[in-house]
Amino acid sequence: MNTDEESDDFIVTPWEVEGEIDYSKLIKKFGTTPITPEMVSRIKKLTNGDLHYMIRRGLVISHRDLDWILNKYESGEKFALYTGRGPSENTHIGHLIPWQFTKWLQDKFDADLYFQLTDDEKFLLKLENSYQETTRLAYENATDVLALGFNPEKTHFIIDSEAGVKFRKIATEISKKITFSTIKGIFGFTESTNIGMIYHPAIQAAPCFYPSVLKGRNVPILIPAGIDQDPYWRATRDVAKRLGYYKPAAIHLQFTPGLEEGGKMSASKPESTIFTTDSSKLAEKKVKRAFTGGRDTIEEQKRLGGQPEKCNVFAWYRSSFESDDSLLDKRWNDCKSGTLMCGPCKQELADRVVIFLETHQAKRQELKEKVAELVIRE
Ligand code: TYM
Repeated sequence: MNTDEESDDFIVTPWEVEGEIDYSKLIKKFGTTPITPEMVSRIKKLTNGDLHYMIRRGLVISHRDLDWILNKYESGEKFALYTGRGPSENTHIGHLIPWQFTKWLQDKFDADLYFQLTDDEKFLLKLENSYQETTRLAYENATDVLALGFNPEKTHFIIDSEAGVKFRKIATEISKKITFSTIKGIFGFTESTNIGMIYHPAIQAAPCFYPSVLKGRNVPILIPAGIDQDPYWRATRDVAKRLGYYKPAAIHLQFTPGLEEGGKMSASKPESTIFTTDSSKLAEKKVKRAFTGGRDTIEEQKRLGGQPEKCNVFAWYRSSFESDDSLLDKRWNDCKSGTLMCGPCKQELADRVVIFLETHQAKRQELKEKVAELVIRE
């Protein structure tokens, strides 16, 4: 689908992320607010000096109304978090990035989390997708969410195909206030888009107001997610006031690249992606084939140094597999100076990925039955 987010060298839409993304350009285009050093200091103060490494490293890039929601928090009005997943496939490591950040927010701000699984969206998106399969995957993906250690007392799943009457009613109310022309402008829908997809923005907007309906009072909502989802919040924020709710606030993260050259990690490129269900052997094989910033020969690498700035293996350490800043800096310097070669650097990443997968898969096994208990049944 082509949308108004298209530019010469990159595309970012909720369904497609391609090319070398210039985030400053994207932030301008989307009209979001960059995360400034002042904002970072403010968050740091509220979290007793403990900043998540994704904030420290600039992986959290922009927001909408974060200052407003922090004002609310400081005046004693707690916010809830909302994020989600379109269950078209098993979860991959890229999806975990906004969810790990969300878990940190849940812990630091003692917030309830509403997590939507849009099995209906993924059924509607592609002709070949079966509804039964996307619903099955919704439960599978939700198990990955729980395996990250979210507080089960404060975590609530919304599975679209099983959502209740109150949820449907909000979506209908939202849809009444949004015209096709607006949605077409934001998402680039065409005459041949099926009408289910055209309605979907109302379904994805509904969890922004659902907690208010369930609690019987206005609840501020903060949405941590990849910046590709922002077009939804633009439409939702436009109708919030008219429906009597707060505008949702959002905080946006960058994408982690896949293992192969170019583009974000995406389920549509399985060789470039590690799924949480991959075997250790397969994961290791994928990491070892990764695109790096290495030179053509070892001699050259020793002489010229590597190029961590364009290395996907380094990007994986930065976003997921090295939380210690000084060790990350050391890896960068050792690469630049030609002391660290790509072989051992990849092997170490493969070992870390395998340890992560083994631990995560054991937790998934433990929590498999728990998801159903946390699905909202009105
Ligand atoms: P989905 O399933 O495409 O993506 C789920 C979340 O993962 C993020 N993401 C990534 N983050 C970092 N690096 C990557 N390589 C990467 N790939 C994906 C996405 O930005 C997203 O945050 N329609 C939605 C489901 C949804 C939703 C929501 C998402 C419903 N309500 C509220 C976020 C917030 C979807 O298909 O997401």
